[in-house]
Amino acid sequence: MAQLWGGRFTKETDRLVYQFNASISFDRKFFAQDIEGSIAHVVMLAKQGILTKDEKDTILKGLTGIRRDVDEGRLQITDEYEDIHSFVEANLIERVGDVGKKLHTGRSRNDQVALDMRLYTRLEVLYVDELLRELLRTLLHIMEENTETFMPGFTHLQKAQPVTLAHHTGAYFEMFKRDRSRLKDIYFRMNYCPLGAGALAGTTYPLDRNYTASLLGFEGPTLNSMDSVADRDYVIEFLAALSTIMMHLSRFCEEIIIWNSDEYRFVEIDDAYSTGSSIMPQKKNPDIAELIRGKTGRVYGALVSVLTTMKGLPLAYNKDMQEDKELTFDAIDTAKGCLVLFEGMVRTMKFRKDVMEKSAIRGFANATDAADYLVGRGVPFRDAHAVIGKLVLYCIDRQCAIEDLSLEELQNFSPVFEEDIYDAVSLKTCVEKRLTLGAPGPEAMRKIIAIEREYLEKDWQIERSI
Ligand code: ARG
Repeated sequence: MAQLWGGRFTKETDRLVYQFNASISFDRKFFAQDIEGSIAHVVMLAKQGILTKDEKDTILKGLTGIRRDVDEGRLQITDEYEDIHSFVEANLIERVGDVGKKLHTGRSRNDQVALDMRLYTRLEVLYVDELLRELLRTLLHIMEENTETFMPGFTHLQKAQPVTLAHHTGAYFEMFKRDRSRLKDIYFRMNYCPLGAGALAGTTYPLDRNYTASLLGFEGPTLNSMDSVADRDYVIEFLAALSTIMMHLSRFCEEIIIWNSDEYRFVEIDDAYSTGSSIMPQKKNPDIAELIRGKTGRVYGALVSVLTTMKGLPLAYNKDMQEDKELTFDAIDTAKGCLVLFEGMVRTMKFRKDVMEKSAIRGFANATDAADYLVGRGVPFRDAHAVIGKLVLYCIDRQCAIEDLSLEELQNFSPVFEEDIYDAVSLKTCVEKRLTLGAPGPEAMRKIIAIEREYLEKDWQIERSI
């Protein structure tokens, strides 16, 4: 058991207590960030004359040596240390001797862990954003190819009005675009450096917090030392953003599962992204889509867990906050995995355009347009609605579409119908006439696609300074 404290203790820690308290099994994940933070701290201490140049050089050599040895597999991070901070410090002292004991001057594990977690989260925000951008590129490609792929639009999972595959996909494009903008907000709000807050009340050493912040690529230092060590808002915000991303993925997956079913056959998931059944040879299951839908609950769980952990904590640091890590790491890895898999599944999925189009024709998706036709010829909308309602009932009895009826049959419902009704209710006309901004009409859609393309080109770029 290697721990950094013990001076005031007369008894050994109970083994179970030690294990219960230890965090190395998971905080090893931010080993790289712990080293980065220590390097910046030491450079600042030397600039302020708190360490000599020689001391700084020796410590830096030790820290970079530890990093290299771990990266190259010569040094293992093992459970004999309480946490990643102890691992680094103990190894440093072992390497460089007593001067290593000066590393922690003017620092506490409280501001150290606050920094490590922030550095880790900040980098992950960028990774998730990159994956979203990849996904948006794939969606945009589907949109470009399918401005005239007609399909039913649904409300209540019932066919409502005709749309296009480009339009339907475009709805998800908007969702993931908002997700990226949430990440951007979070990035800028969290980009302040807590190092130098000490345990909770700053330190008596003349630290230059602005300098450490700039070395680590932060916008500046945080402004209250108690808040600095007690704040996990950025973790919660990130988990909320990840939850929303998962919710969007899950909705799309739900649709893909429905579309992939035998009853719909709108899409066929590629063999590489489907799985079989051990008993039913005919099966090709949408397991990936189902797993993404399922894992959404896991990410929500992390959000609710950290929110709940934080809700009763008095200022400043409390050990409860160690619980922010495992679930957050899991949620980040889960969401990233889902984004990668989802993008691949959608990119390789076959859209069965003919089936989609037939489905739109059969489902009376043009009933509103038929009513609008009557309105265009002077029938009040309410009356037109009633006429078409009766017409639909008549068609259901005969298992046919509105456009399958003869003009004579149509005129039995309203004398206003003329030969041009057939063109007015054709799928193509119904969609093409929907030209309001944001509507599915191909011409309107192409304008939106141009906007989205430009959006993807002029991206927000964060200088990765570390
Ligand atoms: N493992 C701790 C955490 O994750 C590090 C901070 C420890 N600080 C302390 N005062 N015990 O929060």
